[in-house]
Amino acid sequence: MLPFAIAFVVVFLGVYVFLMETVFKRAECKSSAGMAGKTVIITGGNTGIGKATATELAKRGARVILACRNKHKAEQAIADIERETGSTDVQYMHLDLASLQAVRCFAQTFLKTESRLDLLINNAGLVADGRTEDGFGIEFGVNHLGHFLLTCLLLDRLKEAPQSRVVTLTSMAHRWGKIDFDALVTNKDLGEGRYSWQFFNAYCNSKLCNSLFTHELAKRLRGTNVTCYSVHPGVVRTELSRHVSLWQMVIVVPISRLFFLDPKAGAQTTLYCALQEGIEPLSGRYFFCCAVEDVCAQAKDDAVAKKLWDISEGLCGLS
Ligand SMILES: NC(=O)c1ccc[n+]([C@@H]2O[C@H](COP(=O)([O-])OP(=O)(O)OC[C@H]3O[C@@H](n4cnc5c(N)ncnc54)[C@H](OP(=O)(O)O)[C@@H]3O)[C@@H](O)[C@H]2O)c1
Ligand SMILES: *[C@@H]1O[C@H](CO)[C@@H](O)[C@H](O)[C@H]1NC(C)=O
Repeated sequence: MLPFAIAFVVVFLGVYVFLMETVFKRAECKSSAGMAGKTVIITGGNTGIGKATATELAKRGARVILACRNKHKAEQAIADIERETGSTDVQYMHLDLASLQAVRCFAQTFLKTESRLDLLINNAGLVADGRTEDGFGIEFGVNHLGHFLLTCLLLDRLKEAPQSRVVTLTSMAHRWGKIDFDALVTNKDLGEGRYSWQFFNAYCNSKLCNSLFTHELAKRLRGTNVTCYSVHPGVVRTELSRHVSLWQMVIVVPISRLFFLDPKAGAQTTLYCALQEGIEPLSGRYFFCCAVEDVCAQAKDDAVAKKLWDISEGLCGLS
């Protein structure tokens, strides 16, 4: 009995240590760069990783614009952030990424009222079922297409800043994604059908778009002073799983208590890509745990990235 118990404990600890060193690994952004005089937009900055990111950037003196869809939640977040940091320069601006019209409206307001943009953080994201206002699959529409249009509309303003960056949240889940261009044309989504497990597929597909978008954007930004990065934040305890079913919750909640990063730890790689000096030559690359990582072939496929860009332009009415 005893050897069995010892073996069990050893295996359990081994698995725990392995997981903590891989999937649940953490790192800290060590840059001391200040943000005084700089303006930042963070989409979905009212909760989770976005709120933790906003808090640190406000602490460093940035003017922070929370681009959120819910005014009440945003105002509460601003009160929390200002209390914690002493900043008085955190603003709400309405942005619903599930509506291309609302994205255009946001950009118009921003360009009219704000004179500079140093950092755009495409952070908002969701795992859910449904369609956007324009009829796109909701994950494709919000996680990718809304951010695609937003970035395009703000690029000229980013180019005017002395050194600016676009940081886009992807996920390690992009590895399991697929891009089905035929489905996109016929079904306004990257796949067909949507039941239970399928919205996880749709999520992975949208996250692959985030990586490919960053890959292509970097090429288009060559010769400018704008650089871009994609980020896997780690596995973080946030509201991202709010739409999963009850039985999935039964599995997710205990594991999340044991292993998941808190939002502050989950914001470190975003902060690294936003702040770290000298990473400009790594524009277009993928980061995890405050370090650049290689991605699988499909996340840096030049032809697919370009095709996704061209199709996205068409879908947004930009071409
Ligand atoms: N948590 C993780 O383990 C993990 C892992 C890998 C990647 N990520 C990525 O990290 C990013 C942040 O996620 P999180 O974990 O912090 O999730 P979260 O706590 O659910 O926060 C997501 C944010 O996105 C906003 N949002 C959703 N739909 C929107 C829309 N249509 N328009 C504008 N904003 C919208 C939400 O606003 P409301 O509050 O109004 O809904 C919320 O502020 C996402 O891109 C996610 O894919 C997370
Ligand atoms: C980039 O920044 C450098 C130094 O700040 C400046 O000399 C140069 O003109 C900028 N380039 C562009 C394309 O704006």
